[in-house]
Amino acid sequence: MKRDFIHVDDLTPDEIHQVLGLAGEVKEKFRRREAFHPFANRTLAMIFAKPSARTRISFETGFTRMGGHAVYLNPQDIEIGKREAVKDVARVISRYNDLIMARLFAHGHIRELAAYATVPVINALTDYNHPCQIMADIFTIQEARGHLENLKIVYVGDGNNIVHSWLRLAARLPLHFVCACPAAYQPEAATLQLALAAGLSRIEISHDPLAAVQNADVVYTDVWASMGQKHELQERRQHFDAFQVNARLMAAARPDALFMHCLPAQRGLEVTDDVMESPASIVFPQAENRMHVQNAIMLFLAGLV
Ligand code: CP
Ligand code: NVA
Repeated sequence: MKRDFIHVDDLTPDEIHQVLGLAGEVKEKFRRREAFHPFANRTLAMIFAKPSARTRISFETGFTRMGGHAVYLNPQDIEIGKREAVKDVARVISRYNDLIMARLFAHGHIRELAAYATVPVINALTDYNHPCQIMADIFTIQEARGHLENLKIVYVGDGNNIVHSWLRLAARLPLHFVCACPAAYQPEAATLQLALAAGLSRIEISHDPLAAVQNADVVYTDVWASMGQKHELQERRQHFDAFQVNARLMAAARPDALFMHCLPAQRGLEVTDDVMESPASIVFPQAENRMHVQNAIMLFLAGLV
């Protein structure tokens, strides 16, 4: 049966570790510029209903360097769910391409795409989650710290799609994950429940960022208004003022705490320029690792491991 990657917890804990290990191997092959063409004669369809820099570039570059051809489809090309039904797009693309990755608004659409496609589907962000990002994040933390055990990861900001993926990861790997967010911008209750019910991780929701980051190994943030919510930014700013990751907040974390951001960042809003540029910031290795981890996810789903 074909496998999809719609939620990070679609993978078992062993599979998560397998993908992370594979990402390390593929990263090394890329570093050495080794010829590595497992996707020769294969194609990847990349459907984007929203803008992207990292996701588009990393998927296209990774797949191409692994010997395949990636077809970029911009928001106007397909107009998935508008010009054509999701289930029709799924079956048409499955006749041309070996893999599909899609960045969509509605989470229901990516689920429908996966249900009707006969080839593996990768979720490249929806309004609900961003599983490729979180896989790259833990790969980056493991690379920086050498392990994933006993680390306190504190996310400061909007309880958004990034947080939902962290919570779902916490249902698969033991984490200490804290989400410090304004009371009106909490993660979805059902997802929090799913993570708590797994009984594996220590999970806390806080509304006090300064207290939350005490003893943090990682301080993570994301934009206050996600794609599709940009018009809400002025109103949101009033709720998020205390949630800016700045030097004062970083000083309350462990002295060796790392700073992470999925990017793109709005400097001066959720994070200050000095934190982005500080030695604690690993945002660029984090961005690079999107490509290596996604390469591993594609190899895994295509059964090429
Ligand atoms: N982090 C991330 O997904 O970046 P893009 O929106 O630029 O793809
Ligand atoms: N939460 C952000 C993440 C961007 C990668 C958004 O959805 O816009």
